Amino acid sequence: MRKVSVINGPNLDLLGVREPGIYGKLSLQDIRNRLEDEAKGYNIELDFYQSNHEGDIIEKIHEAYKNKYDGIIINPGAFTHYSYAIRDAISSVMIPTIEVHLSNVYSREEFRSKSVIAPVCAGQISGLGADSYSAALFALAIGFSGDTSEGGLQ
Ligand code: DQA
Repeated sequence: MRKVSVINGPNLDLLGVREPGIYGKLSLQDIRNRLEDEAKGYNIELDFYQSNHEGDIIEKIHEAYKNKYDGIIINPGAFTHYSYAIRDAISSVMIPTIEVHLSNVYSREEFRSKSVIAPVCAGQISGLGADSYSAALFALAIGFSGDTSEGGLQ
């Protein structure tokens, strides 16, 4: 069975309450339930995690390596825009990683249009709400590894 680690960064524990006009009405638990259902259908074992602390997120990425995870889906929250430490953790473990965002980070404040994490990820999905997570899981389920040399998803 393939294993995917879903890692959520700061303030995502407040989804549903936090700026629902931007992030939607679903709570993180709602997103988790949905994703766990989808994972069952794909025969994927899911680990779903949230932390407000940079170091804990880095430990979680290391754990994915130690426990031989096949893929990582990460919403780094505001760390997206400045955490070189999370970027280095991702590039250290060589696990196909997809960065996701609920909102379209390119249509908001200027500082959000820069991700220091995306260059070391296999791909990025932004602006699809909770479906950003589902799209990332789908890609990993059908074997997306970040190698697009054969034309990407086939
Ligand atoms: C976010 C976008 C980030 O800019 C923001 O800091 C978040 C959430 C998103 O999912 O849209 O915390 O990652």
